[in-house]
Amino acid sequence: MDKKLPLSSFRFGNIEVNGTLVAAPMDGISDSAFRRILRKQGAALCYTEFINAQDVLNDSILFQRKVASIREEEHPIGFQVYDADPDAVVTAAQKLTRFQPDFIDINIGCSVARVANRGAGAGLLLEPDKIAEIFDRLTDTLSIPITAKIRLGWDESHSNYLEISHLIEAHGGAMIAVHGRTRQQGFQGKANWDAIREIKKDISIPVIGNGDVKCVDDIHAMFSETKCDAIMIGRAAIANPWLFAMRDRHEISNAEVYALIREQLAMMVSDYEEETALLLFRKFVNHYLIPLHLNRAQKTVLFDHRTSQSLLKAIEKLLEL
Ligand SMILES: Cc1cc2nc3c(=O)[nH]c(=O)nc-3n(C[C@H](O)[C@H](O)[C@H](O)COP(=O)(O)O)c2cc1C
Repeated sequence: MDKKLPLSSFRFGNIEVNGTLVAAPMDGISDSAFRRILRKQGAALCYTEFINAQDVLNDSILFQRKVASIREEEHPIGFQVYDADPDAVVTAAQKLTRFQPDFIDINIGCSVARVANRGAGAGLLLEPDKIAEIFDRLTDTLSIPITAKIRLGWDESHSNYLEISHLIEAHGGAMIAVHGRTRQQGFQGKANWDAIREIKKDISIPVIGNGDVKCVDDIHAMFSETKCDAIMIGRAAIANPWLFAMRDRHEISNAEVYALIREQLAMMVSDYEEETALLLFRKFVNHYLIPLHLNRAQKTVLFDHRTSQSLLKAIEKLLEL
């Protein structure tokens, strides 16, 4: 297997990115600990989980939690903002610059009903004027790059990804990440990589391809099929953080799995209360241990541990270390 990627770096705005694999923003998943784990494996760039503009304006605890614990080694990092109201997005993004983001990313792709149906996330795809206003105002007032993460359209009959991509470029956007699905598709069907190739051909700012990259072969295939500048990986990273090091899950030894689990759990315990960390860590353990095919009873026992020490001991035993 040829592990070499076609490009070793890319540039957007004033940011030189050393590497071409990007960690996707994932709400409830990509907290500081997970971002640091992925950066260590080779993710070249990362984003915060999406942040609601109103939460920023109201100084909510949720917003503070999302930006307070960012570490030096997470840079370059983009803060991702979502809202239907351009005023709120612009004011929130301006306020967020206090926390030293390297770039601000506008979420134009979230398909979740409570977001999209209210005109935010993928809902913005139906209102290009608002997108233009957000990019005009932010690029006029901020010196860091403003980027977007989009889907292909609201639904198949409103697949306006070329129009939206042109508009973002024309209004000063520095880069576009494209999840190759419409809002209507949610996570169903197959991501449309042809559309990503079309966008890449049509605009001159960097394009990050995203959707359904699950293994090293997929990374090579997406680069070759779309000619994108970089690849963003989401769900597959939860089961295999080593994908950023161009390694498939079956290549990872149990000792490496255990070392990563121990490292991530320690980071989470230091960022949250131990009880919260153990709760939040469940979804990662579930994914990291997929190859063990644990049954329901085994999982129940595993998730009953009340301290990270005893959880780690149990995992060590399961991994036969
Ligand atoms: C649990 C979860 C949370 C997500 N949260 C966000 C988010 O906060 N912002 C965003 O732009 N996309 C979000 N996404 C979408 C991913 O960034 C990505 O576009 C999508 O999962 C497709 O890529 P994949 O096939 O590599 O997973 C989320 C996806 C998942 C599964």
